[in-house]
Amino acid sequence: MNKIIYLDAAASALKPDSVIKAERDFLQKSYANSGRGVCARSVAVDNMVKHAREKVAEFINAESNQVVFTSGATDGLNRIVNILTSQPWYNPSANFAVSDLDHHSARLPWEALLHHGKIRKLIKCDLDKNLDIAIDSIPKTDFFVITAMSNVLGRAQDVKSIIAAARKKNPNVITIVDASQYVVHNKINVQEWDCDFMVFSGHKIGADTGVGVLYIRDTKKYFPDKFGGGMVLSVADMAHAKESRGGWIYQNCSSCWVTADAPEKWEAGTLPLTQIVGLVPAIDYLESNRPNLDLIKYLYDELSKIKRVKLLTLRDSALLSFIVDGMHPLDIGALLGVRNICVRVGNMCASWVHKYLGVPGTVRISVGAWNTMDDVIQTAEIIKQIVK
Ligand SMILES: Cc1ncc(COP(=O)(O)O)c(C=O)c1O
Repeated sequence: MNKIIYLDAAASALKPDSVIKAERDFLQKSYANSGRGVCARSVAVDNMVKHAREKVAEFINAESNQVVFTSGATDGLNRIVNILTSQPWYNPSANFAVSDLDHHSARLPWEALLHHGKIRKLIKCDLDKNLDIAIDSIPKTDFFVITAMSNVLGRAQDVKSIIAAARKKNPNVITIVDASQYVVHNKINVQEWDCDFMVFSGHKIGADTGVGVLYIRDTKKYFPDKFGGGMVLSVADMAHAKESRGGWIYQNCSSCWVTADAPEKWEAGTLPLTQIVGLVPAIDYLESNRPNLDLIKYLYDELSKIKRVKLLTLRDSALLSFIVDGMHPLDIGALLGVRNICVRVGNMCASWVHKYLGVPGTVRISVGAWNTMDDVIQTAEIIKQIVK
């Protein structure tokens, strides 16, 4: 049987040995919970979490207390909505802006607010001729969800200019960047972007599932959205609470309590420690092994020779999406699948861009550091045989 050719990095990346080893070593040799113990092992785990946080902070050019560990991008994107809508100053007559590049995880939490009457209006930014967010169409908005790279079109957006244009219209706009795909191919610089929130998932950069990063710029501005162990500094009387260093004081409860500072105030409950341990080698690996996009260019050139194939992405994109005249994407996925070639087919949880393109679904090929030129030569050959 042929070896598997895994061309679905944009869904989830395969894991480098360094990640697997770091997680195994942690589980076998140094496992304990974090933020709870005083024994040497617990302290060592606290230090590991601290180190991972510093690593992520450096990776995205943030301060380490602005880095919150979540369970993934979807979790982060939902939490941002929960955080914002639970602030005393939140006003349901606000509006929010989106674009058709959005993944369901970025936009549905906001659309659910519309359904519940908790926000007034959705405003859509236009796309330009390259299907990038048209900077001259950026509206005046209170909240702005920006997809830094579509998981269907694979083009890096000019996030800095997009945010600058939004701030020109409303200096108080709150900007939320979904960097889930962007992070795989480009360096993130949250300070340069000037964003308020940013998310990505660990599993797309070679770390494990179950860990994500949420960047929060204004660590003191927001009440927390989740409550439990680890996020509260003291549950005591008012005098004691006032003396406590830290975040927000909660009164009129069974006792008076005060939250910890960021980032702990955002991290109620036990963290995904094993996955956090794996994040550090995953970042190291990614930084020196970004996917080779020449493989995508090769496929682009080969598939553009097939008459029935319609390419939907540009040659310099980070991935390749296409449809075939007279064939359903699911059939193509299945025909490639039985030949041990793994691609993604369907709407990729990005219905709006498919609607914009006027197609119900696409076939998507995306590469990771493990893919070779031979993989794409074989794939192009097999697609030619299937499509003819
Ligand atoms: C652009 C984009 N945003 C958000 C997500 C959601 O990521 P996760 O499923 O890891 O939470 C994905 C995953 O495919 C994505 O591609």
